[in-house]
Amino acid sequence: MPIISPSDLSLAVQALRKGEVVAIPTETVYGLAGAIDQPAALEKIFKTKERPFFDPLIVHVHDKAQAAELTYHWSPLTDFLADSFWPGPLTMILPKQNHVNSLITSGLDSVGIRCPKHPVALELIRSLGTPLAAPSANRFGRTSPTTALHVVEEFPALDLLVLDGGPCQLGIESTVLKIEQAGSSYDLYILRKGLITQTELTEKLNQKNFRFQFLEPRSKQESPGTLEHHYVPPIPVVYCSTKKSLAEVENFLRLKERRDLKIGSLILPGEATLAARELYSNLRLMSETGIDAIVFFAPPGEISEEWEAVLDRLYRASEIRI
Ligand code: TXA
Ligand code: MG
Repeated sequence: MPIISPSDLSLAVQALRKGEVVAIPTETVYGLAGAIDQPAALEKIFKTKERPFFDPLIVHVHDKAQAAELTYHWSPLTDFLADSFWPGPLTMILPKQNHVNSLITSGLDSVGIRCPKHPVALELIRSLGTPLAAPSANRFGRTSPTTALHVVEEFPALDLLVLDGGPCQLGIESTVLKIEQAGSSYDLYILRKGLITQTELTEKLNQKNFRFQFLEPRSKQESPGTLEHHYVPPIPVVYCSTKKSLAEVENFLRLKERRDLKIGSLILPGEATLAARELYSNLRLMSETGIDAIVFFAPPGEISEEWEAVLDRLYRASEIRI
């Protein structure tokens, strides 16, 4: 599986034009990309990832104009959020145009769109002239890759171009925001937490006096990809939110599993953006050290908003919660 450098971008463009799938860097995590006008590529994305067809893909665009062509309702609020947060880790779920292939949207009437803040991804989409549908480049339910090598390790048997854009700057997936117009106001739903928080969105929107409210997603249908278990690394994660020592957790697991387990404790940097950047690569590295499980001790007390996305990923990655 050849890793190619950005100087060979034209190889990636050719492959995408032929309906092939290419792994691409973004600022959040690596994506498994196909051109949105190539149904064969779209099918291959699902097949490669072993992803169920009910879980829709995010479309990556080069700019606002390309995004507006995918939705029939590019509202003033959407336009303002795009100006404020794109390129960047904000995916907006908007009413889709008919021409957007329903494979991308899993038959929903909405489409997820974002403009990635990575020069290689942007240049690729610009050169291709077509948006790219791209989920994270991992097998379904597993930890997202944040380096080109992670992608290779994820799909060892696959003949796939991996465009190497270096380690991802942000390290966890984008905030997914569903936008619905409700008369002269907007209903907003955060379907997946990310580094762009509700407070940040609120502060921005208040600058322009938009009328809006944040609501809790109504059902699973609203966010089909938000499963209870996700981002799972090769060895089990134990999410510990009660006050326990490593020895106590070890003892708990010995009783539960009826055998001795070697466990390692995941230590994250004290700052949320750094923790996000290192999270997935740390989980992968720890999985290779010969331990049987990774324990994460959740910080006690109220969780500040900037930590929510990181803790959300760890919680969903965990097999055992104590
Ligand atoms: O940062 C990211 O968003 C990365 C990079 C590669 O851009 N992509 C990513 O894609 O995380 P994926 O497929 O792993 O997650 C996409 C999420 C899923 O939870 C999916 O269900 C949701 O976005 N989604 C996509 N389109 C949707 C739609 N029309 N309605 C509701 N949820 C949607
Ligand atoms: Mg994913």
